[in-house]
Amino acid sequence: MAAKIAPSMLSSDFANLASEADRMVKCGADWLHMDIMDGHFVPNLTIGAPVIGSLRKHTKAYLDCHLMVTNPLDYVEPLGKAGASGFTFHVEASKDNWQELIQRIKAKGMRPGVALKPGTPIEEVYPLVEDENPVELVLVMTVEPGFGGQKFMPETMDKVRALRKKYPSLDIEVDGGLGPSTINEAAKAGANCIVAGSSVFGAAEPAEVISLLRKSVEE
Ligand code: DX5
Ligand code: ZN
Repeated sequence: MAAKIAPSMLSSDFANLASEADRMVKCGADWLHMDIMDGHFVPNLTIGAPVIGSLRKHTKAYLDCHLMVTNPLDYVEPLGKAGASGFTFHVEASKDNWQELIQRIKAKGMRPGVALKPGTPIEEVYPLVEDENPVELVLVMTVEPGFGGQKFMPETMDKVRALRKKYPSLDIEVDGGLGPSTINEAAKAGANCIVAGSSVFGAAEPAEVISLLRKSVEE
């Protein structure tokens, strides 16, 4: 399956976001993963639509936005205006309104995705993938959301395997603790969209890490 390698800009130098984004694109990134946290759904606060809008003026790259927020619906309009490309909300934060969310995300020209925490059963996302107006990506969190630099949780791979078996052509994204030592396990389980923060930004040669991640998915 085609790989999408998405460096997580959470590990970049936020004071130089435009040049960091440019550097990642030159290193071979397919997408830029943007972690939006509200200090409520997760115990950390990052960026929102104003920063996405500023970055959009400097790059044409696909901005893969991961919404770790309690009220994702409030972010659809501003992120659409700001120029976000993908809008991935958490299933835990959209129990009552996921159909409305998907519809509004698409109406704003963004690609809808759903994410789930390590403790959330995979069955919870099936209705969103099987709906007549479905999500186009499922993000399986491989750490507890909130911070970069945590350890990959191998037990989450059962969920990736179950998804891949059921949906052979679905975009399945993994996020948290991915790097040269964990990529093979995730790729073998069936993930094709790979988020990597500390392993890419902490490397002397990020381009080498990105190409290694890609090879692992595509071989
Ligand atoms: C964590 C974020 C991740 C994070 C990944 O809540 O969703 O995108 O930046 O960072 P690493 O790759 O360092 O685990
Ligand atoms: Zn993320």
